[in-house]
Amino acid sequence: MTGGTPKPLVDVDMDRVVQTTTFRVFRYNGTGDPPTYKDYEVPTKRGMTVLDGLLWIKENLDGSLSYRASCRMGVCGSCAMMINGKPRLACQTQILDLQTSVVVVEPLKNYPVVKDLVPALDQLFEKHEAVKPYVMRPGEEDELENPSGEFEQSPEELDEFIQFTYCIKCGICLAACPTVASDPLFLGPQALAQAYRYVADTRDTAYAERCDLVDTAHGVWRCHYAGACTEACPKGVDPAFAIQLLKKKVFQHRVLGKKRKVARVAPKPTGVSRRPNVPEPPARTVKSD
Ligand code: FES
Repeated sequence: MTGGTPKPLVDVDMDRVVQTTTFRVFRYNGTGDPPTYKDYEVPTKRGMTVLDGLLWIKENLDGSLSYRASCRMGVCGSCAMMINGKPRLACQTQILDLQTSVVVVEPLKNYPVVKDLVPALDQLFEKHEAVKPYVMRPGEEDELENPSGEFEQSPEELDEFIQFTYCIKCGICLAACPTVASDPLFLGPQALAQAYRYVADTRDTAYAERCDLVDTAHGVWRCHYAGACTEACPKGVDPAFAIQLLKKKVFQHRVLGKKRKVARVAPKPTGVSRRPNVPEPPARTVKSD
């Protein structure tokens, strides 16, 4: 451990400040008292994000402010919040791009609030889990431990679902969705887009089970295609499109009895020797509990 003053999380050089921004922040103490809004004046320089503003407030003005953040680069999804009425990632929202001197920051809509800007994301993860977000195959454990070859999946087959794998589970699409707002049981855009992602994946063999899983009153048919999820997604995923594709798959399964191709496992090539000077990989060890 080294001594000295810790480096501030957000270093604001006053010579480079171009405006003072009022952060109007939703405050809720988590005990049932009515929420309030509190204003903080934040010296703002070019390149500062809303998350930088919140970090600066916490370090310099009010250590009691609560919010979630981790990567500060649009990858972990934890800093999702309402910013001037729209669900966004705070770390990807430049304060000056908002073109206002007042930034209203609130927790994501359609979720209960734990404290201040921290939503309870249980419904997001429960719905995600409900659509079984993993490849299902008979004997998959043995296949994982003793792979006999590679899946034959063409680039065109991969294109069917690859963009939906970019979801970072920030929960923004559920906050944007008007149907989630009116029907808390609706599976919602995140889970349904993931359901499609596995329905379309030829490595998966649970096509029929997956179609039946979403073919319910609160499932795929509950989406009225408002498109708000797609507009809000910070990663450019298109959940609204995935849901329409999923409707088509469910119809094909249910009404037409159509099945989906399953990728073949190509046997390991024989007679291919290892290139010289390439070391053998270390032996795999399987941990037992
Ligand atoms: S802090 Fe990770 S996405 Fe914003």
